[in-house]
Amino acid sequence: MPVVLVTGANRGLGLEFTRQYAAAGWAVLGTARDVERAEALRNVAGDVEILPVDVTESQQVAALTARLNGRPIDLLINNAGLYGLGGDPLGAMNYPAWEKVMAANLFGPVRLTEAVLGCLRAGRQRKIVSLTSLMGSIGDNVTGGSLYYRSSKAALNAAMKTLAIELNREGFRVIVIHPGWVRTDMGGTEAPLEAPASVAAMRQVIDRLTTADNGRFFNYDGRILPW
Ligand SMILES: NC(=O)c1ccc[n+]([C@@H]2O[C@H](COP(=O)([O-])OP(=O)(O)OC[C@H]3O[C@@H](n4cnc5c(N)ncnc54)[C@H](OP(=O)(O)O)[C@@H]3O)[C@@H](O)[C@H]2O)c1
Repeated sequence: MPVVLVTGANRGLGLEFTRQYAAAGWAVLGTARDVERAEALRNVAGDVEILPVDVTESQQVAALTARLNGRPIDLLINNAGLYGLGGDPLGAMNYPAWEKVMAANLFGPVRLTEAVLGCLRAGRQRKIVSLTSLMGSIGDNVTGGSLYYRSSKAALNAAMKTLAIELNREGFRVIVIHPGWVRTDMGGTEAPLEAPASVAAMRQVIDRLTTADNGRFFNYDGRILPW
């Protein structure tokens, strides 16, 4: 039975990844910051283990590594993310707010990846998937705005591209993927896509990843996006 670790599994896209992988017979390690309040995650049917972690807290991530104790993981989904204040205009920049977004969207996924690399090396599939955003695409940025969020996802893209190159020799497939504009707490009620459709499409992309795909920036439907 393949094993997937999903961060931010208690709601939104992370919860949906958990539901779909568990329904497909995978063992799911789903993380939540507040396990007590992760009711929807507790109610997912199948082989689901809930693990507490805030990806911005080094000690909590170290505790996760210790708890996993080298257990094989096939696929890591760095899903946890924060829009936060999104951005502010020049003259009104809020640096502490920006730091929070960078901590969650850049340092968090890299820290988590580093923390479970031994488990991923012990797994069979060697896939690392990070949820980015089209807003992190520099090539696609024609409107400006959302400076904190955009820069955090652009930096995540740069970090994951680097890891893709560095882990290439070991047969890893490290990609970033934009889920579309999805109706979740973050995406809001105007979003055109439902989480089940977005996640089903992303799972197909993840399923089909070959070593040639290492280091790519995907749209949820499999299209390649500009950096
Ligand atoms: N929805 C969209 O339209 C859209 C578009 C582009 C990209 N994305 C990306 O897709 C991913 C999932 O988004 P979503 O729409 O499902 O967001 P969401 O509904 O806001 O859920 C975010 C999840 O991330 C967790 N999280 C946030 N900060 C964390 C931290 N420091 N440590 C651990 N977990 C943390 C949250 O946990 P708590 O419940 O504890 O807060 C929650 O489980 C994110 O990376 C997001 O940037 C979403």
